[in-house]
This record gives sequence, structure tokens and C-alpha cells, in this order.
Amino acid sequence: MEQVLSYLDQNKDRYLAELKDFLAIPSVSTNPDNKPDVQRCAQWVADQMTTVGLQNVQVMPTAGHPVVYADWLNAAGAPTVLLYGHYDVQPPEPLELWTSPPFEATIRNENLYARGAADDKGQVYIHLKSIEAFLKDGGSLPVNLKLLIEGEEEIGSEHLVPFVTEHKEMLNADLVLISDSSMFAKGVPSICYALRGLAYMQIDLVGPNKDLHSGSFGGSVHNPIQALSEIIAQLHDKNGKVTIPDFYKAVRALSKKERDAFKKLPWSDKKYAKELGVAQLYGEKGFSSLERVWARPTLECNGIWGGFTGEGAKTVLPSKASAKISMRLVPDQKSDKIAKLFEKHIKKIAPKTVSVTVRNLHGGEAAITPIDSPGVMAAVAALEKGFGKKPLYQREGGSIPIVVQFKEILGLDTVLLGFGLPDENAHAPDEFINLDNFFGGMRTSAHFFAELPRFMSGKGRK
Ligand code: BES
Ligand code: ZN
Repeated sequence: MEQVLSYLDQNKDRYLAELKDFLAIPSVSTNPDNKPDVQRCAQWVADQMTTVGLQNVQVMPTAGHPVVYADWLNAAGAPTVLLYGHYDVQPPEPLELWTSPPFEATIRNENLYARGAADDKGQVYIHLKSIEAFLKDGGSLPVNLKLLIEGEEEIGSEHLVPFVTEHKEMLNADLVLISDSSMFAKGVPSICYALRGLAYMQIDLVGPNKDLHSGSFGGSVHNPIQALSEIIAQLHDKNGKVTIPDFYKAVRALSKKERDAFKKLPWSDKKYAKELGVAQLYGEKGFSSLERVWARPTLECNGIWGGFTGEGAKTVLPSKASAKISMRLVPDQKSDKIAKLFEKHIKKIAPKTVSVTVRNLHGGEAAITPIDSPGVMAAVAALEKGFGKKPLYQREGGSIPIVVQFKEILGLDTVLLGFGLPDENAHAPDEFINLDNFFGGMRTSAHFFAELPRFMSGKGRK
């Protein structure tokens, strides 16, 4: 182990240089123009896997972007880890808000800035380098490993679900390991044990059959932007609750034990509001900020458009208005069911003055993972060694839809070992990974592989 750790320590500069190459590829999965880049990125990951000593490396096509697979299965009798991550990234726009270009990774204040630095290329890369440290010069790993790195996580993992179903044998393992979340705070390592689900919707409203002069027609025709705003404004009540009937029906209540545990976490609403530049926080009455984000369902308008938004002024009563609305879900809400409730409610409250179309763009289910599994215990031990501190337990507000599918299709529990930070600007300009977390993450990854067999002894499948 000492050799592995000193190898990790001696190669830091090279790691940063290589990671910059990975981050230079604009693998934006949602943008059809970037399709060749996404493909090139999959190949980059595959080449890296070969370089670090993994075997059976394959770029495997799907009906969407490719999945990259590799394994190393020579640790007879040891547990098998299925390591999942994603090489696709969110769009970088708005470009003008980046301090340095999104695909030219740049170090400032001990952080590496680039799209995908934390979410999730940087975190995938952490594991690749810890694997390299074990396998260099014909060395070996303490566990068997299967890597599954996909290219559609940021757009809902649509084609990964059939892929996992079709490759059940190939993906058979003892547990799943994912590093695609954050630590509780800088210097505060954590184990995440729950993620929210998602239902992502689009509403399109059409009023008059063409754009109209707002002077000649304004007052006699319902402006679709106004109608849409009225609809959206009705979706929360004055207590911050979502007004869709039955929205909360299936919600699993928080136990007193869990609420008490949240209260003990080192958290300040005042500091949080200040960091975000808001004069006051907002949310569902009767719940703390952490409860609201981690364990309560919510509804957000992600974008709204229509009419004239260019420079200067144009007097127009537009024909159309649209909005993208997502709902974060908690156990035991079902994404499809919530999407249907949403559609029904929107159609009910939409005024007769406009026609409305509601579309379900994608979704995923919330996940809760056991916190007393051998995998989690190995992760706790690894974080303590990698960061010099005992981790705390937290939930997350974000979503990784495949976690539930890993349980349903493969029967596997997931360990969520995140090395990002809550203020890492994921999905926003100036995304970064903190360098202490990057190198601490590599040490933790190595310790995890080393610790796991001891915690799993007698419990593995093999
Ligand atoms: N890394 C995130 C998931 C995440 C976010 C975990 C915040 C913990 C905290 C992941 O890449 C992501 O952004 N997922 C999407 C999923 C969606 C498109 C189905 C999300 O949460 O918006
Ligand atoms: Zn993401």
C-alpha cells in the first residue's frame, strides 16, 4: 500500500496534465453537434483504461452515446466492484460567465476549473489513477473490478437501462461504487446514502395563431407569456408547498432519528444564504434547508421563453410561450406517476384562452442505499485514511437515476463516495474540482480497494 500511495504522490503533475486532456473534449451529451466529441471522449476513456492496465476494454455502442467497459478480474476469491461514472458533461453556456474557457482546464486558488472537472470526469479519473498505481509494472489489485463509464448520464441515462439489462452477466458484481456527488464541505468528507429522483417536463402554450402588434391587439387576447406565468405561479402555495393534487401522497416521511441526525450536522442557514447572495432563504414551511433539499420533493422552473428577448424594445404580443419544469422526487414517489399528475393538473388549470401541450422529457427514481453494508464500512475506513477524518453521513438533492436500476436489475447496492464540493458550480459557469479533494480522492480510492476484501470476507458472491 505504501508503494501505491507514494506512486500517487510522485505523479501529481502528470495526472493534472492528463486530466486537462480529458477535460478538453467537449462531450456535451445533449447537443447533437457534439456527437463526434462524445464519441472521441469515449475512445479517450477506453485508451486510458488500456494504459492503466485494465483488460477487456471496449467502447460499446448503444442507441445513443457509447458505454465504455473494462475489467480486471484476477483477484481470485476477492470481491468484485462495479465502478460506474459518466464521461458526458452539461452544456457550458453561458460562455461569457466563465473566468477561463470551459474546455481549457485552468488552475486558480487550488482549484482546477473546467466543465466536467467535478461532474464527473475528474471523479472518474481519480479512480483510473488509483487503479494505475496498483497495476503498474505488472502489479495487481486487491479486488476484481468492472468499469462502466457512460455517456448519457446528464440526459437521463435512457439507453443505459436496456444496456444493463442486456449485459447482466457481464456486469455481475458484489457492489456498485459511484463517485459523482460531493463531500459535505471542504475538509468534511462524507458518505452519501440517498439521492432524489426526477420528473422533467416541458409546457408549450399557444395563444393567437401568429405574433400580433401589442398595441392593436393587446387587451383583447390573453398573452401566452402571461398565461404561462399565471400557471407557474399557481404551482406553489404561500407555504412553499407544491399544489399539484396527490403530489405528496406517496412521500416517505422523515423519521425523528434522521431529522435529529441532520440537525447535528455542521450547518448554518445564515452562511448558506450569504454564500448564495440571497437576502432570505425560501422553501417548504416546517422543514429545515437540508430537509428541503435532501428529503422533500420540490418543483423548479428551469427555463422560460417566448416573445422578444433581444436588445432594445419590440412591441409584440407573442403567439407562443414555453417552460421547462422539473420536479425532484423522494422515496416512494414514482417519476411516471408524478409526470401524469403534473400533466393532468396543468391541463386543468390552463385557461381556455390558450392551448397547452405537456411533455415528459425524462425521469428517474429516488434512491436510498444502506449505510451499514460492508461497502459503506470500507468507504468509511478509506475516507478516514484518505482525508484524515471520519466521514459524516448525508443525503443529496441531485439524481443519479441508474442507482435504482442497479438494484432492480443487478440486485446490487451502491456506495456513493463523492469527492466534489457543494459549491463546485456543477452545471454552471466556473465548475471546478478542488485539488486537495482530487488527490485525497485518489488516496481514498486506493484505500477503498485495499480495505474492501476485509469488510466483505465471506459476504462476496465469488
Ligand atoms: N453528479 C450529478 C448528480 C448529483 C448532483 C449528485 C448533486 C449529488 C448532488 C449528476 O451528474 C447529475 O447532474 N444528474 C442529473 C440527473 C438528471 C439529468 C436525470 C441531475 O441531478 O440533474
Ligand atoms: Zn451532472
